[in-house]
Amino acid sequence: MTDRAVGIDAIEIWTGKCKLDLAETFAPEKGDDPEKYTKGLGLRASSFPDTYEDIVTMAANAAKSLLDREGLAPTDVGRIDVATESAFDNSKPVSTYVAGCLEQVYEGDFRHANKGERKFACVSGTQSVDDAYNWIRAGRNRGRAALVIATDTALYARGDPGEATQGAGAVAMLVDEDPSIVSLSTDQGIGSMDETDFLKPQQQFPSVDGKRSVKVYLARMREALEDYESVSGRVGVEDFRFAPFHTPFPGMVRKAAVLAYRHVTRGTELEEALAPEIGRQPREDAFDDREAFETAMRDYVDALSETSRYREWYEATIEPTIDIGRQVGNWYTGSVHLARASALLSALRNDEDLVGEELLVGSYGSGAQAEIHSETVREGWREGVAAIDLQERLGARYDLSFDEYERIHDTHNHDVESDVEPFTQPANEFVHAGWGRMNERQYEYVE
Ligand code: HMG
Repeated sequence: MTDRAVGIDAIEIWTGKCKLDLAETFAPEKGDDPEKYTKGLGLRASSFPDTYEDIVTMAANAAKSLLDREGLAPTDVGRIDVATESAFDNSKPVSTYVAGCLEQVYEGDFRHANKGERKFACVSGTQSVDDAYNWIRAGRNRGRAALVIATDTALYARGDPGEATQGAGAVAMLVDEDPSIVSLSTDQGIGSMDETDFLKPQQQFPSVDGKRSVKVYLARMREALEDYESVSGRVGVEDFRFAPFHTPFPGMVRKAAVLAYRHVTRGTELEEALAPEIGRQPREDAFDDREAFETAMRDYVDALSETSRYREWYEATIEPTIDIGRQVGNWYTGSVHLARASALLSALRNDEDLVGEELLVGSYGSGAQAEIHSETVREGWREGVAAIDLQERLGARYDLSFDEYERIHDTHNHDVESDVEPFTQPANEFVHAGWGRMNERQYEYVE
């Protein structure tokens, strides 16, 4: 058992090497106003894997970058946890494929590292960080760190309303004692219910009730926030420098943020300060029926979202968390971890002093479960975040035409036979090289 701080010591991010521009390329083909995507959903582009990329290559490439940068050998890692909802094998976990890739290029191996794969839609990335945290806090790590990787190819069936929110990439995180970037709170809130809003029963692409999924996200997040408040004491808007939330598309976070703000300002001086402008929050006992109360609450929330006090909070606390999400789409398990990185990268650009500041982190997975915890920014955050090698990779993505997008979608569709030439040239990275005699995927490192 350790009493030392445990959290995220290093982060690396690998984006799929192609991109689809939603306003320029997708909207015209769909006959839609580009602003539906850029303003409504809040997305500019989605990342896609090239033909030789998949969840294993993206995870292994992110992990290799991270291990190289930290100067770590396989024996320094006691655990490899992969979170994904795009797995292609019902038995052998993705972490074994990733370890196999890494063992091709490092001396030594991960023979004594505990490997696994976590599934609960998008929330499993955070659950894997949790597992690593618990393993270290319990004192079972023998001084070794955990490698946690969230990797997904978030594809929807062609024509599904979710098609505009696709994305692909991996976030690798080193979880360790005395972390450089953030330490995690023991306090944690959960909101969890059996829901049928987004699922993949033995199928690659999700069955989605999109509008319902939005409501379920908001309901479970509210429950998780209430649960978190019950263990951590009252939560205030000034308590957190950033609030990175799961970002299936930035418009979802916009909806969640105003509801969270309303919730935490209820009964506070802030509610009174806003009252001359928009009135006090409606209380249910002042209404004869639930419908009238809900209408009044909707009107209050709409008015709240237009106040300068709320807008300033949103610009400072939320907007920086969705900057990367806008450029890459939904990365499912990696999405909330991208949101954290996005906020920290923005603070770095603005030369902010964040040491000791708190983040309120909200994760979510369909099916459905939300989790909320807080994190404290550590002394080494600046160097740790400056080392994330993302901007260049984002800028180097191949810009797909619509026809090329259709071919890439087919390439990654398990039910379609396709033979598409790659759009980019692999260099210094793992690639999917073919299939073995037991139908296992095979990988090689390309110099
Ligand atoms: P849709 O029907 O195509 O879009 O699907 P819409 O008509 O609802 O429009 C979207 C927004 O754009 C709306 O904003 C429109 O008003 C606005 P809102 O009213 O909601 O604030 N809009 C415009 N704005 C400006 N100019 C215009 C314009 N036109 C429209 N011209 C939907 C949207 C989210 C349903 C769809 O994308 C979908 O099904 N997505 C997949 C499911 C999803 O992402 N759900 C989110 C919550 S569940 C979750 O996060 C879990 C998940 O990550 C999976 C997991 O956990 O594993 C998905």
